[in-house]
Amino acid sequence: QRRHLQQSAPNGPVPDFAFAFDIDGVLLRSSSPLPHAHTTLSHLQQNRIPFILLTNGGGTSEEKRVEYLSSKLEVPLHTDLFIQSHTLFVEKEKLKKETVLVVGGDGDNCRKIAEGYGYKRVVVPADYLVAGKGVWPFSRALEEHYKSFARPLPQGEDAAVKAIFVFNDSRDWGLDATVILDLLLSEGGKMGTLSPRNGDPSLPDNGWQQDGQPRLWFSNPDLWWASEYPLPRLGQGGFRAAVKGVWTAATGRHGLGMNIVGKPHRETYAFAERRLGRHRESLFEGREVGGLKRVYMIGDNPESDIRGANSFKSPRGTEWTSILVRTGVYRGGEPAHQPAVVVDDVGAAVRWALEKEG
Ligand code: G3P
Ligand code: MG
Repeated sequence: QRRHLQQSAPNGPVPDFAFAFDIDGVLLRSSSPLPHAHTTLSHLQQNRIPFILLTNGGGTSEEKRVEYLSSKLEVPLHTDLFIQSHTLFVEKEKLKKETVLVVGGDGDNCRKIAEGYGYKRVVVPADYLVAGKGVWPFSRALEEHYKSFARPLPQGEDAAVKAIFVFNDSRDWGLDATVILDLLLSEGGKMGTLSPRNGDPSLPDNGWQQDGQPRLWFSNPDLWWASEYPLPRLGQGGFRAAVKGVWTAATGRHGLGMNIVGKPHRETYAFAERRLGRHRESLFEGREVGGLKRVYMIGDNPESDIRGANSFKSPRGTEWTSILVRTGVYRGGEPAHQPAVVVDDVGAAVRWALEKEG
């Protein structure tokens, strides 16, 4: 590591490698910093070795989350080195002028995040519940809470919902799954209607496709995640299974069209690599940085962090190496999906990589 202290000094050669850190189970366990998280990130910053934070978490704006992480980890961070599950929805330009449903997160935080990305007309499930008519009779106990942030529904042509984005974990699976199912079964996204095609994306004229792309996005595939509870907890992947289950039960079909992003999916790793490349250039502003040759992905979840890094084929020829830590979801004994190495914690992970870099 001593060598890296000199090598990456401001006018030393630019490192041709970088790190991508998962957050839950690697840097934080719920709200508690994990061992060596602070010293490891500080070391990399002092030595100008680029890194990004790449999480399947979400539900608060990038700005607020980065502020929170900077204080928790006592490391100065900023949004251009931070990617969360829904960050790449900022690129869905064609849908920003349409009415879209955003699901998940506390209150209407995710609606505000989507509006911050440039979405002009965002509805949330609570808007339908508060609009009355009993769209989901079993969340009446939450009605006062929903009234605190619900908004009047768009009218006329604007009422037709053209895309559904699940930004974060649903706080009310019943209401959220019902509204999603209603829309999938509706005529062109108009709540309260029923299409004879029962939302089957394999049938023609289904309102839920745009140039062959289903207009239903889930931002985080994680079935499990590491919280403060001793056993992993159901993540957004659990909610997705529930939505698929009720759609199959309602239609007798199994082909619900959807897009799933977030680790391990390629779209998220490609987005992260682009972001990491820009961040590395900004770290060495004005200098010839050359190509990013290697990225070390440090994660706790074999399904998302390890599989994703191992299977990602970089369009720039960057080699992604996965390192699995024992401080989160992975408990030992279950499939690890062939990480380059399994280590105790994030400090050991970075030491292993720096030694490999020689
Ligand atoms: O909801 C967060 C969970 O899915 C895992 O997040 O940071 O381990 O990718 P992370
Ligand atoms: Mg994790």
